[in-house]
Amino acid sequence: MNRCSRDREQYVTPLVNALREYIDKETKRFHFPGHKGGRNPIIADLGLTDVWETHCLLGDVTELPGLDDLHAPQGAIYEAQRLAALAFGADTTFFVVNGSTCSIHSAILAVSKPGDKIAVSRDVHKAVIGGLILAGVYPVYIDVEVDKEFQIPLGPTPDSLRHTLDEHPDVRGVIFTNPNYYGVSPPVDLLVDIVHDYDKIALIDEAHGAHLPFHEELPLSGLEVQADVVVSGAHKTLPAMTQTSFLHLKGSRVSDKDISRALAVIETTSPSYVLMASLDIARKLAATRGSELLGRVIEAARKAQLKLNEMPGIKCLTGDHVASKGFRHDPTKLVVSFNGLHMTGFEAGDMLRQKHNIEVEFQDMVNVIAVLTMMDMEEDVLGFAEAVSKIAQDGFPRGQETLLPRSDTQTVLADLSRVFKELPKQRMTPREAVFSEGKLIKTEEAAGRISADTIVPYPPGVILVCPGQEITSAVTDFIVHATSCGVGFHGVKDNHVLVVA
Ligand SMILES: Cc1ncc(COP(=O)(O)O)c(C=O)c1O
Repeated sequence: MNRCSRDREQYVTPLVNALREYIDKETKRFHFPGHKGGRNPIIADLGLTDVWETHCLLGDVTELPGLDDLHAPQGAIYEAQRLAALAFGADTTFFVVNGSTCSIHSAILAVSKPGDKIAVSRDVHKAVIGGLILAGVYPVYIDVEVDKEFQIPLGPTPDSLRHTLDEHPDVRGVIFTNPNYYGVSPPVDLLVDIVHDYDKIALIDEAHGAHLPFHEELPLSGLEVQADVVVSGAHKTLPAMTQTSFLHLKGSRVSDKDISRALAVIETTSPSYVLMASLDIARKLAATRGSELLGRVIEAARKAQLKLNEMPGIKCLTGDHVASKGFRHDPTKLVVSFNGLHMTGFEAGDMLRQKHNIEVEFQDMVNVIAVLTMMDMEEDVLGFAEAVSKIAQDGFPRGQETLLPRSDTQTVLADLSRVFKELPKQRMTPREAVFSEGKLIKTEEAAGRISADTIVPYPPGVILVCPGQEITSAVTDFIVHATSCGVGFHGVKDNHVLVVA
């Protein structure tokens, strides 16, 4: 006898229905994961369709005799990880199935102990903050450049890094992102050299950069410049399944034993073999055909960039735009600003979805961000540019103009460079803040209070406020005005934020 509810409503599957609806629409995918739904014939050519489609349930097992053990690998997993290390140029590579979030958490746990300091670029992803909370580590911030035109963070510079390390000579290590969600890469070679000159550990979040080592026209990967720990988000830019990540080590500053110990604490004890097999597949594809396939998509992306930049009112981010500040751009991220059309990225994203059946990775107040991977074909990439050109020609549908009026005040108040003008004041460790008694207060009243939560526009997940940090009026203005433009936040609910009581 079933002791649980057997109400009629138990017969429906809302999530399955939503997923089915999405699949049936056959949306053109300019978003993660990097396999793009397996539609590229290369997947079949490589004989991989059966592993991914037919064997998804049959292969959904966990550690059984002959299948090795992720937490103590000696057989097939050991060999697959060895091949991955070889392909990426790492000394040791770990397969991780709880996302790059888990790779980042375990890296932070492995290199620090409670009370240590770590220097973090102030535009890091919220996954880094989770690691600081778990480890009880105190963050000190590295200033970042902001691009005012596209309203995006660019990343840390050699000067800002040196400044932080001079001010805080006692940090254990340094964490920054390469490239960021918008494809912008800081000068990793210079940054890693500086970190090592100060005898610190260089940890790089390459959640968006797993493809970097496989084509010479792409920005440098941390592994190519001897970074100590590099987290490669396999599912984002390589054809691997969601939640997969490679955690790479190079050199002797970080021990593989410490990483294994941290992973044993925070990673599942039932790793999915479907996910791990997809890491093996992604590594093989990247190593054997990555250069050729990436070459094709980079060429298509450059053609699309040129076309987009010829359209009145449209601006597409290019390497030239960021080069003068010492940054590089990964062309497989098409960052398209609609500002010249007085349209927000949200409005443009809606039009792409509704009129052109295109789903982009995300949109913000200014841009839409379309992600390309080695699984995209030229006609699709140019099709995206064509759809943008139609939007640029047609403008808003009649009667729908000024969905979100962009007054000067609104633009100024939601200006990222205003938020990033001063380095944040960290009043206690993130761990102390999240374990302290919290109080929900209106966002407008939060300036001067200490945040008990991570506040982050999502996506892209770049932190606005870390727990333990003093909230400024620039931050509260940003939250209020960005919310009114359609930005979603983690850590803000019904215009309230959690502060230390
Ligand atoms: C820069 C960055 N780092 C880390 C992560 C976390 O990766 P995952 O979603 O695989 O846990 C993300 C996710 O979007 C990210 O953008």
